Amino acid sequence: MRNRFVRWVFFLLIGVGIGATIGYFDAQREMKSGVIKASPDDALKRKPSRKKPKDFTTMAKDFGGEFTLVNQDGKTVTKDNFSDSYKLIFFGFAYCPEVCPTELMKMTLILGDLKEDISTKITPMFISIDPERDTPEHLKQYVQQFNPDMVGLTGTKEQIEAVKNSFRVYASKVENEDMEGYMMDHSSFMYLMDKDNKLVAMYSATDTAEDIADDIYARGL
Ligand code: NI
Repeated sequence: MRNRFVRWVFFLLIGVGIGATIGYFDAQREMKSGVIKASPDDALKRKPSRKKPKDFTTMAKDFGGEFTLVNQDGKTVTKDNFSDSYKLIFFGFAYCPEVCPTELMKMTLILGDLKEDISTKITPMFISIDPERDTPEHLKQYVQQFNPDMVGLTGTKEQIEAVKNSFRVYASKVENEDMEGYMMDHSSFMYLMDKDNKLVAMYSATDTAEDIADDIYARGL
């Protein structure tokens, strides 16, 4: 009786192990294909939506614009360093357990879903709202997990405050005695910015990668 139980547990564990391994490789492949397989033939095979994209012109009037931040190589950069491309921007922190990884993964999927002539016009970008812990070196490792082309930006407390304000980003420290360190509560919009860092569109966490790719496609960058 006991033997049979042990054997049962043994096979159960093997089963779980195999499942986890397959899941891991699937996720890896999905992540890679998001970047690499963005060929004009594969991308956006489904019908793009006929929905008219939402107009953000009024909101764009004083949104985004100038910033001074530090990139993942420790170099100071402004909006002019990115004036040759559109930007897909998400604000968060590298220690975020859930929302940030999900949204950054989504960003990779969006770019993989767009035709190459569109996706190469967009720089994926992650801006830290936790400059205390997100050093350039730390951000560099972090963003590369999602996309080798992703730019990670951090800066001084003042620089981060300024860029948060210009994007109306909400972020607040949450301390809890049961946790090591602290968490950041933060808004989770994704912003599509033009070459001059003016708002083109913004997306919420409930929009899927396909919704967003469709929307970008419909805007005809
Ligand atoms: Ni987060």
